[in-house]
Amino acid sequence: MKARVLSGVQPTGNLHIGNYLGALKNWVKIQYDYESIFCIVDLHAITAYQKPEELRSNIHQLAALFIASGIDPKHSSILAQSSVPGHSELAWMFTCVTPLGWLERMTQFKAKSEGQEIIGDGILQYPVLMAADILLYQAKIVPVGDDQRQHLELTRDIAQRFNSLYGETFVIPETKLPLVGARVMGLDDPTAKMSKSATGAGHAIALLDDPSAIRKKIMRATTDSNPTVNFGNAGPGVVNLLSIHQAFTEWTDGQMRTHFEGMRYGDLKKTVAEAVVEGLAPIQAKYKEITADPGYVPSILKEGAARVSPIAQETVELTKKRMGLYSLA
Ligand code: TYM
Repeated sequence: MKARVLSGVQPTGNLHIGNYLGALKNWVKIQYDYESIFCIVDLHAITAYQKPEELRSNIHQLAALFIASGIDPKHSSILAQSSVPGHSELAWMFTCVTPLGWLERMTQFKAKSEGQEIIGDGILQYPVLMAADILLYQAKIVPVGDDQRQHLELTRDIAQRFNSLYGETFVIPETKLPLVGARVMGLDDPTAKMSKSATGAGHAIALLDDPSAIRKKIMRATTDSNPTVNFGNAGPGVVNLLSIHQAFTEWTDGQMRTHFEGMRYGDLKKTVAEAVVEGLAPIQAKYKEITADPGYVPSILKEGAARVSPIAQETVELTKKRMGLYSLA
């Protein structure tokens, strides 16, 4: 039996090239080597208020983007997290074995709760639900961007704690980061991670941005006061542009250096913009095709949930049994 891969994306805001290069592109590459499960984590999304209609349409849009990016729904299961109840069930059981201190120490919890008058309990529990997503399917490999590393460490800690309290139950998962593109930075501010929630018009490139918007954003990207590319002394904005290019084209370090060393920033930006436009064109074309049939995406989400449900049920039953919870089975 093939080992399992699991990963997820929140259906909030517009999917951007950071999500694509940090996660989706890697999923597409490895999907056939594993039994692959890709979740649209709507239960995570509601840790911040979402307009119900918008959330529902974001779920469909995200599923279409998964497929447009190259996830093969015949092989890989694509599902909305809330359609498989095991995610929530396991999350509660994990809440009961997770020390509060572990959650309060998470950097994303600290960042999201800073300066807030009211902090939803969901923000604190967020990584416990994420551990449930992964361990529910006994996933061995979790391909994510760099910002999820700490959440994966916590997942391993929860699995280990559960195993030591109740006996060997969960596979300990491994984090798989891409070699290039694990942390794409904002174009307007290369010291901050490119993020769906940042509002600046020149901050992120969405997967569905048209070529002229892509070119405009990249031409305006922050660089530094040097006139040309110097690999020995490049500022974070230039490093970011180079790694976006390398992640899209998959050029070697040698090819990158030969092509870009000494290039003027204007030409660097033009070259990067064309690589991004070219890299996104097939995704945008496929997206159009997929969404032309409004029944297609819902049918994929239904099929995905049905395919993984038996695995989820088996894990929930096993976990309940280990903990001594009551089972009708
Ligand atoms: P989310 O929705 O914030 O991001 C989805 C994926 O995109 C990656 N990513 C980035 N990679 C490179 N550069 C960036 N600027 C960048 N921004 C985001 C993320 O690392 C992620 O891989 N908690 C998760 C969703 C989740 C999940 C899971 C992931 C829920 N359950 C189980 C894996 C396994 C999140 O908020 O991702």
